[in-house]
This record gives sequence, structure tokens and C-alpha cells, in this order.
Amino acid sequence: MQYILETSCYPREHELLKQLREATVEKYQYWSIMNMPVDEGLLLSVLLKIMNAKKTLELGVFTGYSLLTTALALPADGKITAIDPDKEAYEVGLPFIQKAGVEHKIDFFHSDAFSVLKDLINNGKEEGSFDFAFVDADKKNYINYHELLVKLVKVGGIIAYDNTLWFGSVAEPEETVAETLRPDRNHVIKLNDFLAGDSRVELAFVSIGDGLTLCRRLASTETN
Ligand SMILES: C[S@@+](CC[C@H](N)C(=O)[O-])C[C@H]1O[C@@H](n2cnc3c(N)ncnc32)[C@H](O)[C@@H]1O
Repeated sequence: MQYILETSCYPREHELLKQLREATVEKYQYWSIMNMPVDEGLLLSVLLKIMNAKKTLELGVFTGYSLLTTALALPADGKITAIDPDKEAYEVGLPFIQKAGVEHKIDFFHSDAFSVLKDLINNGKEEGSFDFAFVDADKKNYINYHELLVKLVKVGGIIAYDNTLWFGSVAEPEETVAETLRPDRNHVIKLNDFLAGDSRVELAFVSIGDGLTLCRRLASTETN
């Protein structure tokens, strides 16, 4: 892992992503681990570009490592609907987003994700309009978000769930897992089981970072 990071990730990390990551470590210390790791950021960037993604959703922004990665990868007229109830954390990363010249691509909603997604569906114009959604928020609601996201993301679009390995705990017997990890471990296991059986999406469970599950929305006529 260190080899991958040192040979091909750190040398390739955008200067402003590096600065955002360092500012996050300085302010949040241990909790800076919530930022997406560099190797996963590089994968996200490549994925968005090969998809030609233009309109995306981000649930769970924190200081914005994945958000800035996305904003840098989208074309100049790209748009990201980014949602997080923690505005203070977003403001830690904002100067780096501004310096990168990509703030105009971001609509930040200081809110919980569920209500924004519900509003997007209720306004009647957004279903099937998003190319990509990145979900990195409260694990207990991932399954609920999924039901809304399969409507909002277009056929052929991707919904990406982060932390689907939950520190590897999903593959360990419950009694050997630290108490603090158990509640979200159980939510993530339920999500993983649910997604494995969801015929509306094609699935790729990628062992990068803390686990990244890619769901490609299928047409109703398509089978996976
Ligand atoms: C792991 S961090 C996100 C990290 C970010 N994607 C990155 O790479 O830097 C999780 C974030 O989810 C946010 N969150 C928690 N509950 C949420 C909710 N109901 N809706 C949206 N975001 C939520 C937290 O405030 C926190 O900032």
C-alpha cells in the first residue's frame, strides 16, 4: 500500500488537494481520516472523466477532499450538488476550492442529505438527470439514500458508496470487532447484502481505501 501511495499517488496528487488534506489534518487531527485517501481520489477522477460526468451529487462533504477531486474532474460547465449539515468543515476546505477556480461548479446545501434528495425528486425535473452520485455520509441511511438515488441517477450512471468495508469489520465476526465500530458495521453489512441482490444495478465492489461499491444503474430491459 505504501508503495502504491509513494510511487504513483502522492506525486500525482493535485497541489490544492494536498493543501486541503494538510489543512484538514491540522484542524481535525485523527478525524482527518474522514477525507478520501489519495489513491481513491485518483480512481474517482479517472472514473468521472471516462464517464464524461457533468452533473453529480455528493452526500457527505466534510472538508471537501472528494468534492474538490470531483470539481477538478468535471468540465467547466459541470455541476455538483453537495450536501452536508456540517458547514464549518466545508469552510475549512473552501479556500482551496476557490483557489483551484472550481467553486462555480458547486451548489453546497447545508442540510441533511435525505431532505435535499426528496426535494430534488419532488420538484419533478431531476429524476434520471445525474451522471454520478458519491455517498460518504451517515452509514445508517445508505439504504434509504439508495432508493432515491436509483431514481435520480440516469440509466448507465453510477452511484458510489464509500466505506463499504468499514475498516474491514464487515468480514470479521461481530465479537472480535471494537464496540464503537459495531453499529455502522451492521448497517454496512445490510447495505452490502441488499446491493448484492439489487437487480436494478450492476455492481463492482472495489477494495480501495475503506471499500468502494460502484452501482451502475441498469435499464429495465437490461440484466446484470
Ligand atoms: C466521511 S465524511 C465525508 C468525507 C468527504 N467525502 C471527503 O472525502 O473529504 C462524512 C460526512 O458526512 C456528513 N453527514 C453526516 N450525516 C449526514 C447526513 N444526514 N446528510 C449529509 N451528510 C451527512 C458528516 O457531517 C461528515 O462531514
